[in-house]
Amino acid sequence: MSNSDFTPRDNFGSKFGIVAAAAGSAVGLGNIWKFPYVAGQNGGGAFLVVYLLFIIAIGLPVMLSEFSIGRRAQRNAIGSFKKLAPGKPWYLVGVMGVAAAFLILSFYSAVAGWTLEYVAKSVTNAFAEKNETELNNMFGSFISGTWRPLFWQFIFMILTAWIVVAGVKKGIEKYTKILMPLLVVMIIILCIRSVTLPGSGEGLAFLFRPDFSALSADAVLSALGQAFFSLSLGMGTLITYGSYIGKNDNLTGTVLHVSAADTIIAILAGVAIFPAVFAFGIDPGEGPGLVFITLPNIFQQMPGGYFFALLFFILLAVAALTSSISVLEVVVAYFVEELNLTRRRATILAASMITVLGVFCTLSFGIMSDVSIFGLVFFDLMDFTASNLLLPLGGFFIVMFVGWFLGAGPSRKEISNEGILKLGYFPVFIFLVRFVAPFAIALVFIYGLGLIRF
Ligand code: PHE
Repeated sequence: MSNSDFTPRDNFGSKFGIVAAAAGSAVGLGNIWKFPYVAGQNGGGAFLVVYLLFIIAIGLPVMLSEFSIGRRAQRNAIGSFKKLAPGKPWYLVGVMGVAAAFLILSFYSAVAGWTLEYVAKSVTNAFAEKNETELNNMFGSFISGTWRPLFWQFIFMILTAWIVVAGVKKGIEKYTKILMPLLVVMIIILCIRSVTLPGSGEGLAFLFRPDFSALSADAVLSALGQAFFSLSLGMGTLITYGSYIGKNDNLTGTVLHVSAADTIIAILAGVAIFPAVFAFGIDPGEGPGLVFITLPNIFQQMPGGYFFALLFFILLAVAALTSSISVLEVVVAYFVEELNLTRRRATILAASMITVLGVFCTLSFGIMSDVSIFGLVFFDLMDFTASNLLLPLGGFFIVMFVGWFLGAGPSRKEISNEGILKLGYFPVFIFLVRFVAPFAIALVFIYGLGLIRF
């Protein structure tokens, strides 16, 4: 028997707390760092359209499925499947999720470390009077170093572990509630500056005027991977968080709030980045450095840029933190409930293992840059395997589980709070989880991997 049978489970304290914690998980580097750079590499507007379609047809049903599995089972990602499908292999979906958590946090903590370096650079006013090339070199020489990026990655992992040890209500909820809204305000200020730069129109056209002839099979798979990554889906993060949601809370409402917030922030990040990218003549396909080169450029063009840069990179680091704690929580909840470790031990163990993996990700921009596996450096291998393979595959099995294994009756009971809420949309949901989402994921998957071509 796991120890959660003896101690009451920690729960989120308020309705806003749930939305803030789940949105805190969803909104992070995925929106502000990854979305612009992946959209930039995959043609802009057409990528955005496909991404939005995936959010609606796949993201929403997968998110509601994850919440209902977690809240019904009151367990971690693996334990939930074991409880709802005893003796069946469904728990392997949770195992895949825990594996994905290791991979994601290993490269996520690398980039989060970069944001801390950029906080430090903001403090010392390091961007002042630098042109595009100098900012580019500054970023390049930092990430290709050894000790500095590793140092910040360690600091970031320590912060993440520290909050996770504090537990759900005291740790996770407290921090997300205040800082997320502030981040949104900052991004809106950046958008205003970016679109008023001379020559910014081309950037808006790049993002909002889709050119479908530029859309490759790779881009479609990346859009799917990005939808999963950005909404924190497919690896049991929201199963785990769902297990902390009270029985009277409205799951569907939470899903709509969280995905709307996540999507709006990704688009706003695009609006902040692309006009400036074109105004400064930066290559939109620049890659992982895109925001780290573009944003300091914008700050320099703003009155009070010193102050804004500092505040922005602090908030970005915090957004990364509220996401990384949700990734670590997947592993920790599993270690605590299934392996009966104390929360502190579980956190230290998980964080240390992930940090070891993370070292390879960080070094793949420097001394390990010629080590590649399947043609990808370690960082890209972790990202591709987790985001484009494990998460969509996890999502596929999660909707199959809810649609076909649990079935309409029990899912309806869970989502309607045992019949209290009226669910006019339920037939649509069941249709999406049974047919649309699995079919779409399967199709994109085999198409994106090049197994079929139209
Ligand atoms: N959604 C987070 C982001 O956009 C990353 C994340 C992925 C968090 C998967 C949890 C699980 O930054």
